[in-house]
Amino acid sequence: MKIFMDTANVEEIARFVDWGVVYGVTTNPSLIAKTGRTQAEVIPEIAALVEGPVSAEVISTDCENMVKEAHELVKIASNIVVKIPCIAEGLKAVKILAAEGIKTNVTLVFSMSQALLAARAGATYVSPFIGRLDDIGEDGCQLVKNIVNAFELYGIETEVIAASVRNLEHVDKVMLTGCSIATIPTKVLESMILHPLTDKGLATFLADFEKSKK
Ligand code: G3P
Repeated sequence: MKIFMDTANVEEIARFVDWGVVYGVTTNPSLIAKTGRTQAEVIPEIAALVEGPVSAEVISTDCENMVKEAHELVKIASNIVVKIPCIAEGLKAVKILAAEGIKTNVTLVFSMSQALLAARAGATYVSPFIGRLDDIGEDGCQLVKNIVNAFELYGIETEVIAASVRNLEHVDKVMLTGCSIATIPTKVLESMILHPLTDKGLATFLADFEKSKK
């Protein structure tokens, strides 16, 4: 499972790129708003930081303007993926963009049927939202698993990005689904390295090293 960062904060991305663990990045208008900067400012900086795909979302809700926005976004860098909401106009835009060789990430996916439609329209990626499904009493990780299994069953090449990841349990569970990518927010990513037994074990090793010097 590849790790993407689910943030538009350039400093945070740079910090984890240094760890060697970040392959791609996903953004959305809410994440951009949190930075206090514009999409036009942050996306080129993010695209220069990571090798893999950087999802930048359109804000139009009609096909024609989504496609126009997509054409502008892909001019920014070769690793830009256009994020499109899972609505009917979005599917039409995905079809046009796919025919032009432009990669898309269909976002706000909450069901198997939405994932299938996005894939058949030609989406490069689909992003089911785990946390938001859990919020309404459904099992977000189970949806990811079901989509991954169904895509495999039918030989669908669209990749699944587990999104709206809120905690370590989500990370552990999606790792077992065969999902190829999880997009992880900074707080969850920084907690992934932590374990009390690592700290305890390291303290013991260092103390024993001191003893062995005498
Ligand atoms: O990747 C989608 C994500 O940014 C939404 O997360 O926690 O707002 O549901 P959340």
